Formats: sequence, C-alpha cells, structure tokens
Amino acid sequence: MTDQNPKTLLVIFGATGDLAKRKLIPALHAIHRHGGTDVSVLAIGRKPFSSRDFREYLQAESFIPANDAFLEKIEYLALPIDDPSGYGPLREYADLHPDRHVVFYLSVPPELFEPVISGIGQSGLNAAASRVAFEKPFGSDLASAKRLNAFVAQAFSEDQIFRIDHYVGKETIQNVLAFRFANSLFEPVWNHQYVDNIQITATESLGVENRGTYYDHAGALRDMIQNHLFQVLALTVMEPPHSLASSAIHDEKVKAVRALRLGADLPSHAVFGQYAGYRGEPGIPPSSRTETFAALRLELHNWRFKGVPIYLRTGKALAEKKTEIVIEFRKNASILYNEADDVERNRIVFSVSPYEGISVGFNVKAYGEPKKTEPVWSEFAQTTESPEAYVRILTDLIAGDHTLFTRWDMIEESWKIVDRLVNCKESCPILHTYPVGSDGPAASDELLARDGREWYRCPETPE
Ligand code: BG6
Repeated sequence: MTDQNPKTLLVIFGATGDLAKRKLIPALHAIHRHGGTDVSVLAIGRKPFSSRDFREYLQAESFIPANDAFLEKIEYLALPIDDPSGYGPLREYADLHPDRHVVFYLSVPPELFEPVISGIGQSGLNAAASRVAFEKPFGSDLASAKRLNAFVAQAFSEDQIFRIDHYVGKETIQNVLAFRFANSLFEPVWNHQYVDNIQITATESLGVENRGTYYDHAGALRDMIQNHLFQVLALTVMEPPHSLASSAIHDEKVKAVRALRLGADLPSHAVFGQYAGYRGEPGIPPSSRTETFAALRLELHNWRFKGVPIYLRTGKALAEKKTEIVIEFRKNASILYNEADDVERNRIVFSVSPYEGISVGFNVKAYGEPKKTEPVWSEFAQTTESPEAYVRILTDLIAGDHTLFTRWDMIEESWKIVDRLVNCKESCPILHTYPVGSDGPAASDELLARDGREWYRCPETPE
C-alpha cells in the first residue's frame, strides 16, 4: 500500500557518513524544495554532535544554504549504534512525534545491520506502520544474506522492508520498461530471432578512493554485479508484467534471473582484473586478489533469449565513467547493399552515463549512392536534468512504493549465481592487471572476440 502524503520521521543511521552527505541529504533537500511531502529527519551517528553542529556540518559538506528552511527539519541524535541496549533516547524521540510514521534508513556498514535492527526491535519501534530501508550490499553471499534476512524478519515483515538498489532509480533504467512495453515497434524483435547479443557496461574512472576496507572484501562481483548489473539485466530481458504493480514487476524480474545460466566451462566465460596500483591504495593489503574489474558471458535459458549471449562488464579506474545497455541485432542477409557484408547492425543503446538517452541505430541510403548504405542514429536525449536516483528512491520509500526496491527472492537468486562466480574467481589463477585509465584487461575483448563479437564503442557522444 502506498501513501503519497504521509507525515514521516526519517531516521538515518550513519548520518555522518559519505553516502548521507553526498546523496541522501541533497536528495532530501530536493524533495523538500519540491514540496508536497512532510518529512522530518532524525540524523543518527556516533559523533557527539548537537543538532546545531550537524546543521553546520551539512552546510559545509552538503552545500545546504545557511538560512534554508530544510535545515530546521533536521535534528541530530548521538547514539551508540552498535549497542542495542542504548536505543532508549531514540524511543523517547519517536514518542515525541506520535503523528509521524517512522522510516529507518540504514546507511551503515553491513556489519551494523543486525545491531541496529536489534536496537529498533528492542525499543519497540518496529510497529506495523514503520519501514526499514537497507543500503546494499544485503549479505556478502547467499548464506549471509539468508541469515540477515531471517534476522530482520524477526522484527519486520517483508512489506516493511525496502532493499535499495539506486541503479533502478535512474531515469534511463526506468525508461527500459516504458521503451519496451509502450511501443509496438520494438517488443516483437526483442528475442533470440532478432537479437544477436546484449551488452551491459558500468565502468568508472575513479578507483576505490577512501572505501578500500569495504571494497577489498567485496570486489566488483559483489559490489556491482550481484545488484546493479543484475537489476539492469532483469529489466532488459524480463517478460512483460501483467500490470505495473510492484509485485507483477518483481515476479518477472526474478523469473529472468532464475533463467540465467553460466557456461559449463565457467572460467572461460569470466575475466577478472585488478588495476595497477590497487594494492597501494589506503586499506588494501599488499597481497590482495580482489577483482576491481569483471567481464562475464551469460546466457538465459528461456524461450525468448535462448542462445543469445549476454555480456556484462564493470570496473574501476578505467578510461571513462560509462553506464549503458546495448542491444545488438542480427545482421540482415546483406546481399543487396554495399556489395559485401559491411552493412551495420541495428542497435539500441540505453545510455545512463556520460549522457542520458536512448539511441536507435539503423541504415539509410548513402546520399547520391544508389547501392550503398550508411549507418545513422535516431536519438532521444534526456534534455531536462534527471533527478538524482536517490530523489526517486527516497520519494518512493516515503510513499511506501516497493516497485524500485529489491524483493528478497531476487536477492536470493542473484547470490546463487554470484556465489558461483566468486568461487570461480577464487579458484582461478588468473587475475589480470590493467593500467589505470585503460579499457580493462585485453582478455575482456578476447571474451567477445571468441564469439566473433566486440564491445560496442559509441562512434561519437551526442552533445
Ligand atoms: C555503488 C558502488 O553501489 O555504486 C560503488 O558501491 C560505485 O563502488 C557506485 O562506485 C556507482 O554508482 P553510480 O551511480 O555512480 O554509477
């Protein structure tokens, strides 16, 4: 059930952390400016700030203007987050606001999820009207995710739980379903008869920066593939839901992930790399074998996409920040034009970064050349600035709409596959080193070259 205009008390655990200052507070500020929702924020951290100190910190760190009315909506409470017996002051604070329904947001390292849930439960703040949101990662493998889920289930029911994957909040990613299912042009060719391969890329130019301690335990498989890339993949390949109701969409997404197959010869379908200099980054042990790059070849064992390779690629410290989905169509028989086999494939590119939009590539007659064609693009460029993914995520969390959050069965299915990939990586002797600012290990290109394909490279980025 969703509630568009609730009076909410949003309790942020980990409010002095990086995510809160960079994403959550600016998103809440944007929601406040937009109006229509009445949200008070209780920021919780271990630092002994007063509310006034915290507001000053937000002015400096999140660039909130000093006289902004939004700051009056924020209070700070110092709490021993890891000690569930110390949550009395939180209970007292909530009791002062009985007219607000409480939403807990856990922006804390995963090892603190259980103590925080215990603290909330022991202080009786898990009433049916409350909600709890978890930043990823939800578990670090299938077993730990199951344990965590069982633990959370002692205090909250599934409809109170919101597992966040901010990629699903991105405007272009949400557009995948509209593009597929609101047009009669594309859906008929969205299958193995016409699609040659699917490529999903999420590369970054930044390295691990100050997150080394977390990242070295995660690596690209757990940090990006298990969540963001699988979410994007599921939206790209899923069957049409019978409605846009949250459960209908989740049902189809999870079916898509269940149909994923890793090749029998897994090591030859996966490439792992680490950027040169990673072992010298803060918090990284000198002998670390954590992958900062992964490229995979998967297939779907279902009617629609059987036999179509799906390539996923993600990595840090690469040449550019790029997030895109590329659907490459089969070449046509090509007997009529260009005398040879060099008529370009049709392609559809969903671009999230560096620009936002959707492009369709097709061929037209080359001007003045009756028997030659040339490739052109038709582009939808998102011209208005899209709201940050977290604005969408927080708006839906406050309204209680589960559509953009990850249901438990999706987490479970994703970990089943990622556990196998992690095992493969751990037993695989090859961890390629790649230079900072490159396109990753050459083996990632070879992965596609073996199939006679290559990673799609945008000829030019639209202005
Ligand atoms: C996070 C990962 O979930 O997503 C980070 O933990 C990564 O390692 C980030 O940098 C990328 O998000 P975006 O929105 O910048 O592509």
